[in-house]
Amino acid sequence: MSRIELRELRKEFGDLVAVEDVSVTVQDGELLCLLGPSGCGKSTTLRMIGGLEGPSDGDVYIGERQVTDSPAYDRNTSIVFQGWELFPHKTVLENVAFGLKMDGVGKDERRERAREMLARVHMDGYQDQNPAELSGGQKQRVALARSLAVDPDVILLDEPLSNLDKRLREEMEIELKEIHEELKKTFIHVTHNQDEAFTLADRIGIMNDGELVQVGPPTEVYQHPKNEFIEGFLGDTNFVGGRVEETDGDEVLVETESDVTVRVPVEDDVQEGDSLTVSLRPEILRIHPTDGDDSVSGQTGRSVAVADGEGSNAVVGQIERVLYRGSNARYFVDVGGTSVFVERSVADEVGLEQGDEVRLDWTADDVLAFHDDGARVST
Ligand SMILES: Nc1ncnc2c1ncn2[C@@H]1O[C@H](COP(=O)(O)OP(=O)(O)OP(=O)(O)O)[C@@H](O)[C@H]1O
Ligand SMILES: [Mg+2]
Repeated sequence: MSRIELRELRKEFGDLVAVEDVSVTVQDGELLCLLGPSGCGKSTTLRMIGGLEGPSDGDVYIGERQVTDSPAYDRNTSIVFQGWELFPHKTVLENVAFGLKMDGVGKDERRERAREMLARVHMDGYQDQNPAELSGGQKQRVALARSLAVDPDVILLDEPLSNLDKRLREEMEIELKEIHEELKKTFIHVTHNQDEAFTLADRIGIMNDGELVQVGPPTEVYQHPKNEFIEGFLGDTNFVGGRVEETDGDEVLVETESDVTVRVPVEDDVQEGDSLTVSLRPEILRIHPTDGDDSVSGQTGRSVAVADGEGSNAVVGQIERVLYRGSNARYFVDVGGTSVFVERSVADEVGLEQGDEVRLDWTADDVLAFHDDGARVST
């Protein structure tokens, strides 16, 4: 059994609290990604699980065993580091077999196992080379094979893909996911790259400032971010500040800085006058030309009524800039002095240019809103 449980884990370095009150259970065979900005405590948490760092407080369980004070070699965990740390003067095969040698496995058997692991990461044929002769992606594969060779219960990965270029990283993400599915071992993978976490994870744990803010399946954290930090960290969005003008308990009308009124379905108690931050994600915004529509034309920066259905919101604006980013185009629209961006696939051929007057509309259910203290209040 290789379920991992962290109970109120804490780590101080002098006056600095690097990890604070982290509690989470990782199921046997699960792949958990720890995601968060630089310095938020991901590596320190991982190192405490692997026994490379002792906690200041709290406990680590692996399976039924409390291992808080056990040395690294007595935990049956294996770590893959960002820099791969291969032995430069040993061959690829010797690198992979190294842990087995330490475990007292005989020469023939360890060579056999090392070959098997190299085949699993598609590196058969490279066994007699030195690490210096390998590319980044190949070194990464060898480091992974080395950590798999000792047959650990738990594999801990600390940004193993961050030294790779984008294409190779994406390839390795899929390979890692396949290896995880095949081995059915417990993986904890640390990264500050959202795409990597979304591709790999069964669940994502998002850290900020030493704390584990939210843990859940990728779709859940994306659709229901617990607070404004997570909403901002997971992707580019339009944050617009505003004040609650009206509330009926289920829905509020927020008057934003740019005089646009945004309707938001709310879960929590929100009072008139409360200040909220509204998130209008670029993918929820639809963009249309206003040409020929006298009812809205010339009302730039104004909220306008839309005919197509209840629960919609709309505003008129003017395109300030169009940025092409590969297959996507980003439209920056001036809405009463506030710049809002919308993203569309170039293939959609919306046919809009800088200077065009446009109507943006969206579905109220897709709008997220956050209170002063950062907590999400929208449904
Ligand atoms: N051995 C140490 N001594 C003192 N401070 C440390 C030590 N290790 C980490 N820290 C500090 O603890 C905090 C958390 O560091 P940690 O390495 O866990 O962050 P991280 O989330 O892995 O960041 P990154 O994405 O940059 O790798 C940082 O402020 C860091 O400077
Ligand atoms: Mg780190």
